Amino acid sequence: MRILLGAMLALLLLALSGVAYIYSGAYNVAASDAHTPWVEWAFHETMHNSVEEHAEGINVPDLDDDQLIAKGARAYQQMCVSCHLRPGLENTILRQGLNPKPPVLAEEGHWAPAEQFWIVKHGIKMSSMPAWGRRMTIRRSGK
Ligand code: HEC
Repeated sequence: MRILLGAMLALLLLALSGVAYIYSGAYNVAASDAHTPWVEWAFHETMHNSVEEHAEGINVPDLDDDQLIAKGARAYQQMCVSCHLRPGLENTILRQGLNPKPPVLAEEGHWAPAEQFWIVKHGIKMSSMPAWGRRMTIRRSGK
């Protein structure tokens, strides 16, 4: 009984110090400041697992369709280059100030097509990646 009470007290103290930390203003939310490793890990893992879970069941269209590729390239040039760059473009003014830094999509990227679709349509909270589904008609069966 004593051990249980002690554990509950310790948990309560931990929760209270967490709340006190939030209200203290000590955490620096500036985009110019790097995340602490723990916060970085928590954000990354949360995003990864969330995208995997939410993208399940999305049907991927024929990605070799020339018309779709041309349409995608036009949209990319208009809406994505300022953050994700393109071959031959080293940086942009907008991209320099972002945290997290948008990945260079021509070089990086480990997401499956269905997961990329979900990310583009819904965006990523607290990252500057917009939910493009709000602006354009993006249709795929499912989500
Ligand atoms: C204002 C900046 C900004 C614009 C504009 C933007 N993105 Fe992003 N995007 C981001 C950021 C930042 C991330 C990284 C999010 C993270 O890791 O939490 C991201 C992530 C992604 C990812 C996941 C890639 C990966 O490897 O993690 C894809 C795919 C993507 N964006 C596609 C697009 C497409 C397609 C467009 C244009 C229609 C676009 N983005 C426009 C900021 C932007």
